[in-house]
Amino acid sequence: MTDLAGLFGFADRVVLVTGGGRGIGRAVCELFVAAGARVAVCDIDGAAAEAVASALPGAAAYACDVSDESVVVATYNAVMRDFGRLDALVHVAAVFPKRDFLSMTAAQWDALQAVNTRGTFLVMREAIRAMKAGGRGGAIVNVASTSGERASITNNANYGASKAAVINLTRSMAIETAEDGIRINAVLPGGVATEGAKAANEQMKADGLVLGGPMTGPGRMPLGRLAEPREIATACLFLASDGASYITGASLPVDGGFLVS
Ligand SMILES: NC(=O)c1ccc[n+]([C@@H]2O[C@H](COP(=O)([O-])OP(=O)(O)OC[C@H]3O[C@@H](n4cnc5c(N)ncnc54)[C@H](O)[C@@H]3O)[C@@H](O)[C@H]2O)c1
Repeated sequence: MTDLAGLFGFADRVVLVTGGGRGIGRAVCELFVAAGARVAVCDIDGAAAEAVASALPGAAAYACDVSDESVVVATYNAVMRDFGRLDALVHVAAVFPKRDFLSMTAAQWDALQAVNTRGTFLVMREAIRAMKAGGRGGAIVNVASTSGERASITNNANYGASKAAVINLTRSMAIETAEDGIRINAVLPGGVATEGAKAANEQMKADGLVLGGPMTGPGRMPLGRLAEPREIATACLFLASDGASYITGASLPVDGGFLVS
């Protein structure tokens, strides 16, 4: 009989989740705990991380800004001290302010890239260091975006460039860590109904920017609706699980069919 809990379960495994305080990250924390994992809930919003962790058995909260090198290193040290091992990283944290390209300042460009691109480098570097030291391999799942694969909406070039970097970091490091038994994959959501997406859309309207581009066109969302956060979390769980033992360097769209429309 096939052991489904063995394939897709996380009993005794430790999973670090960035951006775990709300939205997709919170759904990821909840699902991994349901699958048996002990979860380190990391978020720049320490109170939000605490609220999520306190409701989940075996979870602990860490206030962590993924763009800050010393804070990221200290967070991993604390997680290793508290849990003693690291089996998976699900990197969800990112920012996505919509900006008109021609009026965007270099400081605004840098602020987004610091979180989305440098942050991805830092959390991956520390995860790979910890997994190599543990000697048991591991799995990393980066939440990227369809915007990293294809221009999807307007006023989003800075974000799209950062998510293309996340996809490329996934591919580049997948080939460098395979010999250590570490698999690295990306999930590419299209549109997801979250607090962050709602706030970004409201801010965009307040800034006088219009939502346009291919994703808003007729027929471009074949499943006809936004994703729920849980539907992104299930893809993360699969890619981090032993059920995905022969998958590395992949980018899995979870986009309601947008990329093939
Ligand atoms: N919502 C969508 O439509 C959508 C679409 C494609 C991709 N994504 C990606 O999914 C991920 C989650 O998106 P969401 O909609 O749940 O966002 P969200 O804004 O609802 O949640 C993001 C979380 O990340 C945290 N965070 C922000 N900056 C951080 C930092 N510097 N360090 C640590 N934590 C930080 C926030 O505090 C928040 O808790 C992001 O990577 C996003 O780019 C979202």
